[in-house]
Amino acid sequence: MTFGEKLRVLRKSKELTLKELSSRLGVDKSYISQLEHSKGVPSERFIKKLSKLFGIDESEWAILAGKIPKEIREIFYENPVTAPIVVKEEMAIYRRKPAGGPPKSIEPIFQTKLGKLYNADCMDLLRSLSDNSVDCIFADPPFNLGKDYGNKVNDKLEKYDYLGWCYAWLEECCRVLKPKGSLFVYNLPKWNIHIASFLDKFLTFRHWISVDIKFTLPIPKRLYPSHYSMLYFVKGPLPKTFHPPRLPMETCRHCGGEIKDYGGYKDKMNPSGINLTDVWIDIPPVRHAKFKTRGANELSMKLLDRVVDIATDEGDLVLDPFGGAGTTYIVSEIKGRRWVGSEIENCRPILDRFKRLEEQEKILQNSRKDLNRLFTQESLKLRKRFGHSTDKYRTLDHSPNGNPSQVSFFDHIKG
Ligand SMILES: C[S@@+](CC[C@H](N)C(=O)[O-])C[C@H]1O[C@@H](n2cnc3c(N)ncnc32)[C@H](O)[C@@H]1O
Repeated sequence: MTFGEKLRVLRKSKELTLKELSSRLGVDKSYISQLEHSKGVPSERFIKKLSKLFGIDESEWAILAGKIPKEIREIFYENPVTAPIVVKEEMAIYRRKPAGGPPKSIEPIFQTKLGKLYNADCMDLLRSLSDNSVDCIFADPPFNLGKDYGNKVNDKLEKYDYLGWCYAWLEECCRVLKPKGSLFVYNLPKWNIHIASFLDKFLTFRHWISVDIKFTLPIPKRLYPSHYSMLYFVKGPLPKTFHPPRLPMETCRHCGGEIKDYGGYKDKMNPSGINLTDVWIDIPPVRHAKFKTRGANELSMKLLDRVVDIATDEGDLVLDPFGGAGTTYIVSEIKGRRWVGSEIENCRPILDRFKRLEEQEKILQNSRKDLNRLFTQESLKLRKRFGHSTDKYRTLDHSPNGNPSQVSFFDHIKG
């Protein structure tokens, strides 16, 4: 842990804003903010003031500020024997006491055989869950872009207040995640760089998945933003479950011809499709009024379907702290996963969506029709029409209606 991280953790644990700490120390807010988020070295005077305010030994701060040789610090923080103890202490410092004592008791407003939905702050839901109890977590929080979600959500926080809020619910996520369980965090790259660094202290990094954005607006004096980031971490060295689906190869949408040249390897290619990579270009935005059930933030079921496929087995428990239009819950329900979630604002869109579960299943099934095959049905038709042979490839014998390995998810719900 750097000096800045320790400082921020301590400030949060005392529930002080940057402004409050700056006035108590008589030090400029931007100086503290820079220290908190950089590897900058504080002045002796600053260390003295801090020690006086928090009653912590000056030498402890000095060590963190790099006043003692780096090698000695590393022995302490990076030694596999002492590091877990240090990390545990840090987590304990960070765990802010819930206002008003023990976790609030909350009741679900909706439940199915598989899941429970709470109209609540995710911190209340998270605090009510036991340690190591959830198999997979997917979190798509507000991105702090100033959107209007309702009266209970402030989506225009100061940078470090937003991050501090994220760290608080993320820390709870790390606690409730089972060993070998997976955590996915969907956010803008500018937030996920900080979030990844925070999570790296508690979990094992697996992937930064770039999810291609189809339609965005250019930002003046910046590169055109064209991906969302989805972090994928696991508790412990390896996940319990890892079943990435295979995708069809990319082909020209006009003639079905290959986009990449597979040269002499055509007959070696897996007939079940191409390996999933960490760049996902096939996730559509939810724009069509027929599919859209809420505001502009609803994610495609295809994204959640893939996450659930990768990291869970039937019967596993999936948690999503930020319900929105309930995409995670709907997908989990259809796929026979148990689920639990919270939405602090209006839950009506989620409840309405559950009334249309059969229709939602059809949309999901349709988005899966080309999984685990080398050519999409559409591209096979085009290839035939435009004379692109598939003879050199090994292909599976697919039924005309879709993927043979596909099962009807709905069976278990009917029962
Ligand atoms: C980006 S949206 C999630 C969309 C969702 N993934 C979907 O596909 O429908 C974020 C949601 O989190 C909710 N939210 C914000 N703060 C919350 C909190 N503290 N607890 C629970 N929900 C919260 C917002 O009201 C919003 O609906």
